[in-house]
Amino acid sequence: MIARRSPLELAKMRRAGLVVYEVLQAVAETIRPGASTWDLEEVADRAIRDRGAVSAFRGYRGYPCVLCVSVNEQVIHGIPSRKRVLQAGEIVSLDCGVVMEGYYGDSATTVIAGAPAAAAAPARKLLEVTQAALAAAIEQARPGNRLGDISQAVQERAEREGYSVVREFVGHGIGTHLHEDPQVPNYGAAGHGPKLKTGMVLAIEPMINQGAAAVQVLSDGWTAVTADGSASAHFEHTVAITDDGPWVLTRP
Ligand code: MF3
Ligand code: CO
Repeated sequence: MIARRSPLELAKMRRAGLVVYEVLQAVAETIRPGASTWDLEEVADRAIRDRGAVSAFRGYRGYPCVLCVSVNEQVIHGIPSRKRVLQAGEIVSLDCGVVMEGYYGDSATTVIAGAPAAAAAPARKLLEVTQAALAAAIEQARPGNRLGDISQAVQERAEREGYSVVREFVGHGIGTHLHEDPQVPNYGAAGHGPKLKTGMVLAIEPMINQGAAAVQVLSDGWTAVTADGSASAHFEHTVAITDDGPWVLTRP
């Protein structure tokens, strides 16, 4: 069953969404060569607390942190560590979720450590295309469309550039829990799947690899990496389906 949220509920999800946005902004501003991924965790932890919110990640299935920081070939769920010091040109994916007044927000972004020019052109293009794939998917988040319209939009945009779509992890409904129905795959066929209706809220989160699609989970039980060691990018927004079109709750 896919929940449909009232305007009052959406207003609460909007507040949670804006907190996630602000936290990710604060963390992104902290990223510089020499910073450890644990430094980013500390900034996020404080930013969440300062805003009266609670982390949606820490304690979720035993996840130890408020932030996921996934570098280069790490796809998602990288665990912040004092030992992982960022270097100029590295690809850094940040994922954060919070709960406020019982409602969740979830968003991810990928940036390059140091000036964008520090990264090779292929890395910059991977980020651009993944972000464009998310934008194309969000465009499909309208009443009357189907879930497959969202999935196909991501897949088409990524594969057109020769990139591959991660299959093992998917987006999700979100509301009074971090993960709700439906699953939102980043691959699929337009015109298929449940019909999208006003009040549904989806976390749409393409994970796109420069090389092959296969991923592995490291022995820490969390960190997902590309099997071939190629770079990966991840962008995510929490999006409400409204009569006026897609409402991206995790951006101002
Ligand atoms: N944004 C991811 C998701 O929606 C990360 C959550 S996993 C956690 O599934 F363990 F870090 F919480
Ligand atoms: Co998510």
